[in-house]
Amino acid sequence: MPTFPSPLADSGYDVADYTEVHPDYGTAADMAALLDAAHARGIRVYLDLVFNHTSLAHPWFTESVNDPTGPRGDWFVWSDTEGLGCEGAAGPFGDVRWTLEPTRGQYYFHQFYPQQPDLNFENAEVRAALLDVARFWLDRGVDGFRLDVPYRYDEDLPVCVHRPGTFEFLRDLRALTDGYDAAMVGEILAAPEQLAAYLEPDVLQMGFLLAEAAVFWIAGSSGNAQSLSRAIGDVVSAVPPGQGTFATVIGNHDLSRPTEAVMADPGALRVMAAVQLTLPGVPFLYYGEELGMLGGAGVIVDGRDSARTPMQWDASPTAGFTTGAPFLPLAPEHETRNVESLRGDPGSLLEHYRRLIALRTSTRALTTGTYQALRPASAQQLVYWRRHPDGDRLVIANFGRDAATVRAEVPGWAGAFDELSQAEVGVVAANALGGEIPAQTVWVLRAR
Ligand code: GLC
Repeated sequence: MPTFPSPLADSGYDVADYTEVHPDYGTAADMAALLDAAHARGIRVYLDLVFNHTSLAHPWFTESVNDPTGPRGDWFVWSDTEGLGCEGAAGPFGDVRWTLEPTRGQYYFHQFYPQQPDLNFENAEVRAALLDVARFWLDRGVDGFRLDVPYRYDEDLPVCVHRPGTFEFLRDLRALTDGYDAAMVGEILAAPEQLAAYLEPDVLQMGFLLAEAAVFWIAGSSGNAQSLSRAIGDVVSAVPPGQGTFATVIGNHDLSRPTEAVMADPGALRVMAAVQLTLPGVPFLYYGEELGMLGGAGVIVDGRDSARTPMQWDASPTAGFTTGAPFLPLAPEHETRNVESLRGDPGSLLEHYRRLIALRTSTRALTTGTYQALRPASAQQLVYWRRHPDGDRLVIANFGRDAATVRAEVPGWAGAFDELSQAEVGVVAANALGGEIPAQTVWVLRAR
């Protein structure tokens, strides 16, 4: 979540100063040290940039309140009356759109909590100031940004999403970041065809598939892979090659822990992980997924805090996260679901993730190969080719809680080797693969 000074009415998504570090996290010097240490290890650091709105505590808002005809008078969206809302569904946080600001005596517009006044993207100075924020961090060595709700930046009420002004701003932001070795991932809630507009070559490099996280959970918990297969197919065909790419997730800081979503079924977590890490797109893992972390019970902001508990490094009372008091109570079972306990245990979810990541990063077919779905022998299976001139891979995932019969055409294959289990898989005849795939198992096959 964002690292900037903030009253934390929405866990930092209410920013009071875009160019400083929240004192709870440290100082500007700590941020610089973090960037250096990460870069020394080949790790890139993206900041979460929240441009749609600020905090009530941001000096821009204070100035706008106190000086309606002054230079920042219209940096926010003001109205004498409660104006129009956004058309379509209610806002993410309910239907409140306008809140009276008593000093100015006007209502300000907000798409999220009342503590998050929307910036006025119609104002060129606002857009320029935000580009300066991005430049500030790029100059300090930040490698990219996760953009918070960029599809909501510009509004022409009642239209709040996907506006031309939004795309114009994103193109300017892209041109700026292109001057650095930096990239962006957008939090875009949209149908695949709409997502594709954000992935045009001069807009964003990556866009999250957020709605699809729940589709992974459905496959994991029901054992039926059909809706997942359809969802992936829709996205792959909507986003042509040569554009930016989608970014797969099975959880994040706004969603339930996947472990909760599949009722802590370890087999379901393993299949979801293996599919996520063998699909096209850029997989984003949210901390703790590799441990099967459970949801916590503490609340600071709202129910989403369940997925925001401290990372579990070891079995100590603060899970090795802090020597002080954790910001939220630890999630249950942190004594066993932690890095120290799971590392080195070949049967653990953590080692499963590590094998998958190693396989993905060493296999071109899994990173940049094409995707082609094959008709599975039963609804619990997902079967797809990842093809690349360096070598093809055939992925067969069985989400079911029973073994399943596999049948697949594999032209030219005399035998198949599963890279995950390091085992041979039966080939029934020339050009055909057959056999039994165990319950909740994924095969990543290459030709023998
Ligand atoms: C995004 C963030 C969410 C935040 C909201 C408002 O959806 O992911 O956590 O509350 O934007 O900034």
